[in-house]
Amino acid sequence: MTRPAWDSVSNAAIVGTGTIGASWSAYFLARGMTVTAFDPMAGAEARTRAFVARAWPDLEALGLVRTGARQDALRFAPTLEDAVAEAEFIQENGPEDQAKKGALFAAIDAACPPETIIASSTSALVMTPIQAHCARPGRCVNAHPFNPPHLMPLVEVSGGDRTEEEAIAWAMDFYAAIGRTPVRLNREVYGHIANRLQYALYNEAVRIVLDGIANVADVDAAVRNGPGLRWGIQGPFLNYHLAGGEGGLKRFYEIFEGRDRGNTDRIARQTLTEEQKQLLSDGIAEMLDGDDEFAELTARRDRRLVELLRLRARMDAGEL
Ligand SMILES: NC(=O)c1ccc[n+]([C@@H]2O[C@H](COP(=O)([O-])OP(=O)(O)OC[C@H]3O[C@@H](n4cnc5c(N)ncnc54)[C@H](O)[C@@H]3O)[C@@H](O)[C@H]2O)c1
Repeated sequence: MTRPAWDSVSNAAIVGTGTIGASWSAYFLARGMTVTAFDPMAGAEARTRAFVARAWPDLEALGLVRTGARQDALRFAPTLEDAVAEAEFIQENGPEDQAKKGALFAAIDAACPPETIIASSTSALVMTPIQAHCARPGRCVNAHPFNPPHLMPLVEVSGGDRTEEEAIAWAMDFYAAIGRTPVRLNREVYGHIANRLQYALYNEAVRIVLDGIANVADVDAAVRNGPGLRWGIQGPFLNYHLAGGEGGLKRFYEIFEGRDRGNTDRIARQTLTEEQKQLLSDGIAEMLDGDDEFAELTARRDRRLVELLRLRARMDAGEL
């Protein structure tokens, strides 16, 4: 079998149907695929079918259920080999244990069609030692979702030392084609992108509480009512670009670097060279791709904040 086009996968395999695998199953089914699943745990099939039934109305509400998609296009295979034998794409969601993932990848690689991409949901492992167990390591990728993947759009895609560039590109296109938002890591790294960012914030939140600066409720309220609201709209780079006013990120550095120079606190801002600042500014320009009018960017941010705040008001009123 040759590798199918990334936009015409009709038959996917899910290996491991716990928290993440059940959610991916629901999503792949909603996108119109046939799903063949394998999980050795007793009761896995009933739990997965119940999960899919619960997730379906949310997927419908989001317009993510394709015409003709069926919950019962899910088959549980009696063996791993059976589950992956015909698969055009495989998402592995087994236990987070390097030795177990290595053995699982070796078995999948030996049993599935030679061109099929094998993606791992692993959160904290990297692919290089896992793909070392495979005869065809070039098609093994990391594709880390956020829980629950049937609702959260992000998939962080990376490869190990022996992953082929073409396999990474195929996976990026595949996830985009099924309505997820893949992001690309140029090299594999512990925690990918988003968990590294989450843990940086979480570590500081813990320190603030343990140092007696504020209590847990106030730290959560600070995130929820401050930066967390804006993060629903824009990431840290666009955020500080707009904080710099008309002058963008360059002006932001001019204003705040001087102010922070005397700060010896351990959260002191990183000192950057002119080249590094330029690299970051260039990245923002590339991201904005000409849509860089300050007045429009801030007006758009504010329009979106108003909508988020309306949603928040409904939550606070107990409606959601
Ligand atoms: N839970 C999260 O928030 C989250 C988020 C993103 C990624 N991940 C990653 O997804 C993967 C799965 O995590 P989870 O939270 O769903 O764990 P989980 O424990 O809920 O599910 C793991 C499943 O794998 C099954 N399993 C065990 N041996 C197997 C085998 N040989 N073949 C097939 N299945 C087997 C288990 O029976 C279980 O149902 C991990 O690599 C984890 O790092 C988890």
